[in-house]
This record gives sequence, C-alpha cells and structure tokens, in this order.
Amino acid sequence: MNILVIGSGAREHAIGWKVAKSSKVEKVFFAPGNGGTRLAGYENLSISMKEHDKLLRFAIEHGCLTIVGPEEPLAMGIVDLFTNNGLRILGPSRDAARLESSKVWAKEFMKRHGIPTAEFKVFDEPEAAKDYIASSKRDDIVVKADGLAAGKGVVVCSSKDEAYSAVDRIMRARAFGDAGNRVVLEERLYGEEVSFICMSDGKHIIPLATSQDHKRAYDNDEGPNTGGMGAYSPNPMIDDKIHDYIMRNIMQKAIDGLRDDGIEFKGFLYAGLMLVDDKAYVLEFNVRLGDPEAQVILPRLRSDLIHYVEHCIDGTLDQAEDMVWDERVAVCVVLASKGYPDAYEKGKVITGLDDINIVSDNYDHLVFHSGTKVTEDGKIVTDGGRVLSIVALDDDMGSAIERAYSIVNKVHWEGMHYRRDIGKRALRYLLNR
Ligand code: AMP
Ligand code: GLY
Repeated sequence: MNILVIGSGAREHAIGWKVAKSSKVEKVFFAPGNGGTRLAGYENLSISMKEHDKLLRFAIEHGCLTIVGPEEPLAMGIVDLFTNNGLRILGPSRDAARLESSKVWAKEFMKRHGIPTAEFKVFDEPEAAKDYIASSKRDDIVVKADGLAAGKGVVVCSSKDEAYSAVDRIMRARAFGDAGNRVVLEERLYGEEVSFICMSDGKHIIPLATSQDHKRAYDNDEGPNTGGMGAYSPNPMIDDKIHDYIMRNIMQKAIDGLRDDGIEFKGFLYAGLMLVDDKAYVLEFNVRLGDPEAQVILPRLRSDLIHYVEHCIDGTLDQAEDMVWDERVAVCVVLASKGYPDAYEKGKVITGLDDINIVSDNYDHLVFHSGTKVTEDGKIVTDGGRVLSIVALDDDMGSAIERAYSIVNKVHWEGMHYRRDIGKRALRYLLNR
C-alpha cells in the first residue's frame, strides 16, 4: 500500500520513516513534508495541509492510507471527509478532535466523565473573568484561551496581576484571534509533568512507550512555552502503579466517555498530565502524536506501526499483537531558529549534516527534519522555528544524552539555539532514586 503523511514537522518525518520500514508499504508521500523528507527519498507533494479536496483526490488516485500528524486538519474535519469517501485514514473525527480544539469542551467532557483534572470555570466576558480572579482566594491561576493557539494560549500565573493581563491579552487584544472568545480559568497544579500517549480504535487502547517533553524554551525550564524543545523515552517517573492509574482512570475513561457521547475516537490520544502524589491530573488532551515525543517513541517501537494503524482503523485493536519495544533510552534535542518561539529567522544555511552518518537499521542515532528546505543549488536551509530533531539511543539515559549532544555539536547555522539540559532531570531522578 501507499501511505500519505499529512504535515511538515519532525513528527511527520518520524512517522514516514517508521512506516516506510513496513513490508506492507510501497511508497510514502508527504503533504507537504520538508527538506528532510525530500532528501530521504520520499515524495513531497505541493499540496498544503489545508487543501483537503486536493489531498482527497491524491489519496484516491494513489490508493493511499493516510496518517494525519498535526491537529489543524483533524479539527477541520479531514477524517470525516476521507472516511465519507471510503478512504482509510488514521485520526479522530472533527467531533472527537474537540478534545484538543476546545479547552472548554475538553474540561466539560472530563467533568462529565469523572476524569481527574484541575478545578475550573469558563468565561465569555473579560470583566466576569477578572471579577472571578479578584474574588479568588488563590493568586496562582492558569488562564487558557479556549481554541487552538499553537501551544501558546496558556498562561500559568503566579499573581492576580499576571492573570488580569493574560485575560486582557487573550480576550481584548485577541492575541490568538477567535481562540480567545472564551477562557478557562483553572486551578494551578504543582507536580511532575509527563506525556502519555495511546492508540485507540474507538473502544480498545494500547499504550505507547512513556515519554517526557521539555516545553519551555530555555534551560532549567525557563522562558516561554514552545511546541517542545526535546524529549526522552521511557519516562522513569511513570512507574507501573501510576501507569495503571492513568490507563484506567484517564485513557480508557476518555475513550469510553467519548463513545457514551456518541463519538468514536480512532487514532493517537495524548494526555498531558501532572503527577501529584500518587495521582495524575489531565492538563490537556491532544488528539495526535506529540512532537517531539513521536521522535523518541517511534524509534523505540520494534513492531510494525502499520499493523496497529490498520487495527485502529478497522476497530480490531484488541486483536493486535503486543507491541515490542527497544529497551534502549531515546533522547531528542530540538534545534531551533534564533527568535523561536517568537518571530524567528529563516533561510540560514545548515552545515554539518553530511557528517552525520545515518544507518537505517540498527541505528543509534537519527535526524528528523521540521523547518528545513532544500534550495535549488542543493543547500539545506532553515525554514521554520523548530528546525531539526536530533535523536540518540543508548543503553541508559546518561549515555543517550551524551550521544545526542555529540551529534548536536556537528550541526551549525547562524543563530541556532537549543536546550543543553534535555533529560537532565530524569538523570537526577534516576541517580537519587
Ligand atoms: P496546556 O496546553 O493546557 O497543556 O498548557 C500548556 C502548559 O501549561 C502545560 O504543559 C503546563 O506546563 C502548563 N499548565 C497547564 N495547565 C496547568 C495547571 N492547571 N497547572 C499548572 N500548569 C499548567
Ligand atoms: N510536545 C507537545 C505537543 O506535541 O503538543
């Protein structure tokens, strides 16, 4: 079969790389893909993620099974369009994607189904929101724009003044446009933040390997939130007990709750969780694989991803084989453009990639591209905020971190920035355990 991967990030590059290994797959197409997917010999289409009709025609003509990477096409209903036309596609329907595309909807859903999450209130007027903040006993409040805001619509506040200005920025200055029509004001939780991702066929779930993202831009978790500056897998903070708790009280409840509400969820369900004592609370649901979590999870999956993709689409995930995981630790360091996550530079020539020898099987490191493109004279240049994901695998966390940074050191472009502490907290945790 042929596969169409929708998206242009390093997550999509990793998905394409992984499915290309399947004996069932002939060709992998990307819409639109990036410099790395082109260099790797896959075919990049000049169709954007927004052009659903063109994507549909292409998938029909080339007999593609489609895998959707990012949230926007899902929230716009690409899965409904493809399935209504008899095509096979992995991802949730538009209704199911509300779990990510509306924070209000997601919070009310969790409340309705008894899924643990922070206390909250919803407001559609800035004055009412501010009155509530003024009357609140606590100063530490989290302000969340309702709609999609590329991970930037959440402000974690330590004072009431910060919360007032967050409400003004979201609801009055409309920093995220219509995403700020409503806000959620939420109790601030303190604990360890972890990522947990499952595959579901609408009824059954299979957990993927555990992982951890690094959301803040700078070392020691300082600076603004980003899409993610690095990741590792497995996550030692998720022991068997909490794993079991999350599977039963969060992931399965979410899938069952959606089904009770008449919504079938097929695809990757991602919970961003805060571990507090021996419980976990949902900070957010995403309806897709995480980026950069995918870049550390997929290289550890020894089984054929397509096997699970097909079982999800067919509603037979209970019949799928057990997933086999590489025992090694995977660490990913994201290299970003100067300025990211705010306005960033583009068009800088990337050097050093030729010196990184990628072996396709038995790999101990991989490079996935996101914001890159290949110029007419064959140079690789930066073309986005997050540019490259450097992934390394090794027997333990310390060695994987070391290997990842030894590869990072080979790559260069003007203004490149990255965190130097990816995995360090986990390493400390493992040493002190
Ligand atoms: P979200 O998009 O809802 O996951 O929020 C983005 C980030 O804000 C999360 O990854 C957390 O770091 C932080 N955050 C969100 N909600 C809370 C909360 N209730 N308490 C503390 N931090 C939070
Ligand atoms: N890494 C966080 C996300 O994909 O939303």
